[in-house]
Amino acid sequence: MLALWRNARLATLADAAAWGWIEDGALVVAGQYLHWVGDARHLPRSLPIAEEHDLGGALVTPGLVDCHTHLVYGGTRADEFEARLHGATYADIARQGGGILSTVRATRAASDEDLLAAAIRRARTLLAEGVTTVEIKSGYGLTYADEARCLRIARQLAQRLPLTVCTTYLAAHALPPEFTGRPDDYIAEVCACLPELHAAGLVDAVDAFCETIGFSVEQTRRVFETARQLGLPVKLHAEQLSDQGGALLAAEFGALSCDHLEYVNPAGIRAMAQSGTVAVLLPGAFYFLRETQLPPVSALRAAGVPLAVATDHNPGSSPTLSLLLMLNLACTLFQLTPEEALRGITVHAARALGLADRGVLAAGRRADFVVWPLAHPRELAYWFGGCHPQQVIVGGKEVVR
Ligand code: NIG
Ligand code: FE
Repeated sequence: MLALWRNARLATLADAAAWGWIEDGALVVAGQYLHWVGDARHLPRSLPIAEEHDLGGALVTPGLVDCHTHLVYGGTRADEFEARLHGATYADIARQGGGILSTVRATRAASDEDLLAAAIRRARTLLAEGVTTVEIKSGYGLTYADEARCLRIARQLAQRLPLTVCTTYLAAHALPPEFTGRPDDYIAEVCACLPELHAAGLVDAVDAFCETIGFSVEQTRRVFETARQLGLPVKLHAEQLSDQGGALLAAEFGALSCDHLEYVNPAGIRAMAQSGTVAVLLPGAFYFLRETQLPPVSALRAAGVPLAVATDHNPGSSPTLSLLLMLNLACTLFQLTPEEALRGITVHAARALGLADRGVLAAGRRADFVVWPLAHPRELAYWFGGCHPQQVIVGGKEVVR
């Protein structure tokens, strides 16, 4: 059965032409996929259309992809926000056992039901803004059982809500108290847990926090080698607070993405360009931590590194649930163009997750799309706050109206 959505102004992002723009566009949906996308004048007459929707000239974009979140956790860190405003730094708080470890304590103490309910509330907020695919990292459990629990909850989310969830194993996020003074032993444990979690179908990719307050390049390498043996793709929290050379390592492993990158060096950028690694920019964390070192966007752009943008939703460095606000921040703070920013939360974000079936409006891709009451796609980056979709369609079905 084919459904026609006509009278749409399409930002397909499917080619290099500005916005992949089609002024009088139509989409034909077959099941969960787009069967035909193009200029309404060229719509084949022979198609057996069973259902028709008139979009009245509304703007349509691909479903949005939030390619970096830590959505499953307990507690908040509003107290640390206050402490930072009084002069404490993010790294100081982490070294004193707060930061990520304070969320680890709250997550371990929370029930499965409470973790799932909170994650559903957060994911619903994203979905209501047009996010149809979300990546969720573990990393607040830090034991086999608690990491497995958080990954399982992330998988359950995809059964409870009409969106795609990609899971990422981030046990190498912080050193848990059980391993104080023994980071190499903890990394051995992180690696030892991975085969079983993978066999249970809980892991789509593997990540690490390569930083002075996280793990070294050598420790990250061990995690990546284990991922490679299992055929799992890797990504990395790289160069967020200092230049560790993490991007270089990630590129060596053909990483899907390096994320943050405020302190990335030119060799790291060249390596990312060569390996086709996406740079995921996280303006929410930059803003919320009051970082002053800007990621080298012009150099990344000049090297041809694809730029993505994500919320990095987490309770410590980026407690936001608005990907559209990140679009605005990516433009105002990092000087992305509105079109680069939109490609960053669609086509390049999908690539950062290794998903070739979405991120653009084109025949054969998933029928995930968003209808907006806006005159032009640049408005998605222009408004900061208060911009809502008219309709969200996931796998051909309307899920938000
Ligand atoms: O992406 N940098 C490491 N991970 C998160 C922050 C996690 C936290 O502070 O709880 C980030 O910024
Ligand atoms: Fe993160």
